[in-house]
Amino acid sequence: MRLSSFFTLVAATLLLTSCNESRIKKTSLVPLPVEMKLQTGHFRLKPDARITWSGGAGAAITSGQLAAMLQPATGYHLATAGGTDGDIRLLIDATTTWKKEEYLLEVRRKSITLTAGTAEGLFRGTQTLMQLLPPEICSDDPAGNVKWRIPCVRITDYPRFGWRGMHLDVSRHFFDKEFVKKYIDILAMHKINVFHWHLVDDQGWRIEIKKYPKLTEIGAWRVDREEMPWDSREPQQPGEKATYGGFYTQDDIREIVDYAAERYITVVPEIEMPAHVGSALAACPEYSCTDGPFTVPPGGVWPITDIYCAGKDETFAFLEDVLTEVMDLFPSEYIHIGGDEADKKEWKRCPDCQTRIRTEGLKDEHELQSYFIRRIERFLVDNGRKLIGWDEILQGGLAPEATVMSWQGFEGGIKAATSGHRAVMAPVSHCYFNVYQGDPATEPESFRGQLTLRKVYSFEPVPPELSPEESEYIIGAQGCLWTEYITNGATAEYMILPRLTALSEVVWTPAGQRSWEGFNHRLTKMMKRFDEAGFNYSRGSCRVDMSASFDEGSNSILLEMISEQPSPEIRYTTDGTDPQADSPRYRKALKMDESATVRAAIFDNGKMIGSISQKKISINKATGRQVNYNIPISDRYRGQGNNTLVNGIRGTGDFNDGHWQGFEGTDMDVVIDLGKEADITTVSSSFMAAVGSWIFLPRSVEYSFSVDGLQFTPLETVNTGIDPAEQGNMTETYSSSFPAVTARYVRIVARGLITCPPLHAGAGNKAWLFCDEIAVE
Ligand code: ACM
Ligand code: ZN
Repeated sequence: MRLSSFFTLVAATLLLTSCNESRIKKTSLVPLPVEMKLQTGHFRLKPDARITWSGGAGAAITSGQLAAMLQPATGYHLATAGGTDGDIRLLIDATTTWKKEEYLLEVRRKSITLTAGTAEGLFRGTQTLMQLLPPEICSDDPAGNVKWRIPCVRITDYPRFGWRGMHLDVSRHFFDKEFVKKYIDILAMHKINVFHWHLVDDQGWRIEIKKYPKLTEIGAWRVDREEMPWDSREPQQPGEKATYGGFYTQDDIREIVDYAAERYITVVPEIEMPAHVGSALAACPEYSCTDGPFTVPPGGVWPITDIYCAGKDETFAFLEDVLTEVMDLFPSEYIHIGGDEADKKEWKRCPDCQTRIRTEGLKDEHELQSYFIRRIERFLVDNGRKLIGWDEILQGGLAPEATVMSWQGFEGGIKAATSGHRAVMAPVSHCYFNVYQGDPATEPESFRGQLTLRKVYSFEPVPPELSPEESEYIIGAQGCLWTEYITNGATAEYMILPRLTALSEVVWTPAGQRSWEGFNHRLTKMMKRFDEAGFNYSRGSCRVDMSASFDEGSNSILLEMISEQPSPEIRYTTDGTDPQADSPRYRKALKMDESATVRAAIFDNGKMIGSISQKKISINKATGRQVNYNIPISDRYRGQGNNTLVNGIRGTGDFNDGHWQGFEGTDMDVVIDLGKEADITTVSSSFMAAVGSWIFLPRSVEYSFSVDGLQFTPLETVNTGIDPAEQGNMTETYSSSFPAVTARYVRIVARGLITCPPLHAGAGNKAWLFCDEIAVE
């Protein structure tokens, strides 16, 4: 390291630590800039302010954009002109070496100067400038009596990664052009520079292709089964018309690509192959192995066996035609070709595919997939483009110049980087924004699983096992929004905000400068900006998460409350009523030795922020007692071990929350030993359905009792009676009450579905049975 750069580094660190937290909080910039020096005083934006530009046409364009961004809320029509003497000065400086997208923003009392090497850098700087103004600047309407003051500051800023992406699946549900533009606005505000547009999937083909009009005439439409659970929707029936869907014309696409380009966002189209193409095959069955016929599936498809035939040359001719039109529409360097989740069952029995394997000297169907991707890559490279695909493109050998989008975890990206290929990190664990961000009980129905804001913020895209040289191949990261359960724009906004806000800092700000607490403070103001802009966003992170553990020593339950807010004022009740500003304040774990419904929320200045969380604690004769399993639990879902079913803590709506026990392809048969004889009058047990995860309610639950543990007397069989097709995501409690009996042992047998029912995506495969909490009174 040269001495001068060492001093720069020390100086930068000092600058950052010298501007204290409260001042950083006051500006509340997200993502946090690389270097920021706050000074005293303000610049006051007035109606007669002039914006001047110099250094080329790019600066003129950005000046116009800035004036346009400032206009709606201020009502000012700021004049722009060439020159360097304006109140706000935009300057492209080609004489200095700038990092890509770097800008320097200097706000003084009398003028603002924004300098960069390119218009792109200037544009990123304008986003920072907008955030330095009061949040009302984000409003589309005149904001009235606001003083448009900008604190004096000097900011030097540039991104950590060149690929800062956000994805949107428009196949599972269609989102119109206006919403896509709003989505791009949200991306721009977060300095995101790649919009990954998932245009093709089983449930809809969304891009007009002139040479194959059937792709949208047929492939863009499916039958409307929106009232049914995603994973158990009946396919289109003979004579039934497909009316649900939509697509973008090529003019629409050009309009959106231009709209994004004006914000220096590259649109990377994804044209899935060889799988996730049910919509394409419904239109063009001749490119499958079996020739169809197919219909566009209105819901989940699993496993994905109807895929393009890799043996027919016609398939490749078709795909090259499609990609030719795609490349005409999208100037992006990268074309995403999907590549994920292809089940090779049809390839195994297709004569054409098998001939291809022989003539090309391939070992198996994995190598056939690799052949497929390499052949497409050759075509893209010959046309001056680069191929990117999901990490399954590693199977059977990666195409020579391909870039991997690592979604199943970090491994795909690591494999790519260690073999000299680029990778974009989008692991499910940190980047899939289609899952719950708070307690499923109070969140909109989502894909299974949970990803909290805090976990997104903790994301580190460069795995520690990579050397510095290998790390260079990690070109960035992105969030993904799959829309199986997202039917409208407002919900899409809710799912990405504020998780995208957290991710934007992960991909922009130097890792060492990130701080969860600092981010959390700044987020409050960011949310005010969202309010002004009319963005729907989640306050999930303002919720209290209650985690309970059974304390064997005291035979009681310890209830701990945490939240994503720094030093939250948590108030709670234990009688099931809503907490108020004067309810008891939570300070340390509560010791519970009676049944209770605990409700808690965060308060600020006497007002509840966010929503109420609830946990039911049930202390009863079974609590903490021995459970004997006549049928073993699955190793994958053991909950918290052997007393999970009787630890007094109910599982939430998330089957993965550590409180549920799972039985795979079997019934449940457990005996609870109460330790001594007791008079009992009620037994209850709770089960979950999460049909998308192959979890179904039991068909019936049989209760019986015994004094010796050998001879059991039946009490009641409860028939549960909810059709699997109607179950979706729910929890149900089955209770049986009877005149008092004396018993030491209580047996609960729940009859499961054993296999997933017909029409379900997993039809014929093992079904899950999930139980949590058995109570005996
Ligand atoms: C994926 O989620 N199948 C890329
Ligand atoms: Zn085939």
